[in-house]
Amino acid sequence: MVRSGQRLNETSSLLFSEETGALDKRGAESAPGTPRGESPARDAGGLNTIKSVLQFVASPAFVEDDEAGGGVSLETLNRVCGRGFAPWEVHRPQQAVRELLTGGAFKGAVLDCGCGIGDNALFVAKYTTCTVDAVDILPKCIAFAEMKAGLRNMRGRVGWQCFDVLKWDSSPLASRTAHYDVVLDSGLLHFLGAEAKRRYLQVLHAALKPGGTLHLLALSDQETSPGGPTRVSRAELDALLGAEAGWSLTSVKPHYMELHPTFWGGRGQAYLASAQRL
Ligand SMILES: C[S@@+](CC[C@H](N)C(=O)[O-])C[C@H]1O[C@@H](n2cnc3c(N)ncnc32)[C@H](O)[C@@H]1O
Repeated sequence: MVRSGQRLNETSSLLFSEETGALDKRGAESAPGTPRGESPARDAGGLNTIKSVLQFVASPAFVEDDEAGGGVSLETLNRVCGRGFAPWEVHRPQQAVRELLTGGAFKGAVLDCGCGIGDNALFVAKYTTCTVDAVDILPKCIAFAEMKAGLRNMRGRVGWQCFDVLKWDSSPLASRTAHYDVVLDSGLLHFLGAEAKRRYLQVLHAALKPGGTLHLLALSDQETSPGGPTRVSRAELDALLGAEAGWSLTSVKPHYMELHPTFWGGRGQAYLASAQRL
């Protein structure tokens, strides 16, 4: 039933609350392992306003204090992401992605890894001749991205996929190993613990063609605001994307991640790194 303050998007069967900005797609919004039909409010464990989500992300509880190096759990991702409430869900492509695009960085087959609610992938698909696939672990991110594609008359322009990218070999994109000319990661790597980061970059390496390029935007250790995901250092990038791991790190520039205007002053200090698969 559509309640007061909600409207039904007929093309996508999505419900959008004009009071809270919350998005609900019946039967598709639940995290893996949760019953279909759960409401986003229940998925979100009480984080039902933008303010409460921003406060939670800025708190120490956002990352796991574990031996694996402080990643963000799937449960936490599911509470925070995919409703347009998270600090990085700014409803436009990241400035770094806009600069990459105007610099001619996207060509051929492109994979957007950790695409969130889809703005970067849609931007690349709209302004280039690339074929674009985009993957996120959360069904509600993909549902939101598909809705945006529909509203922008871009249905079918991005191949949306929902799976854990660390499980690439059993995913629908496994047959596209060594397929991509360009992989974009805008904000996924820094959500992973230390060991998962190494495995993740092996996946991206395998997804790229030899000579293909990874463009990575990740919060840097220059960002000292409280909370948020892990930060990467220049030394960590050198180690993760070094020749021993099969990469040539061609560029690392200080940049920033655009955020909700009331979160960390609207931006987080980041590195924009580019690396070629050897
Ligand atoms: C900080 S958000 C960035 C979203 C988007 N790229 C952007 O720039 O706005 C990171 C995204 O990575 C997704 N993610 C985290 N771990 C993942 C995994 N193992 N596999 C696929 N997606 C993942 C999250 O669900 C989240 O949407």
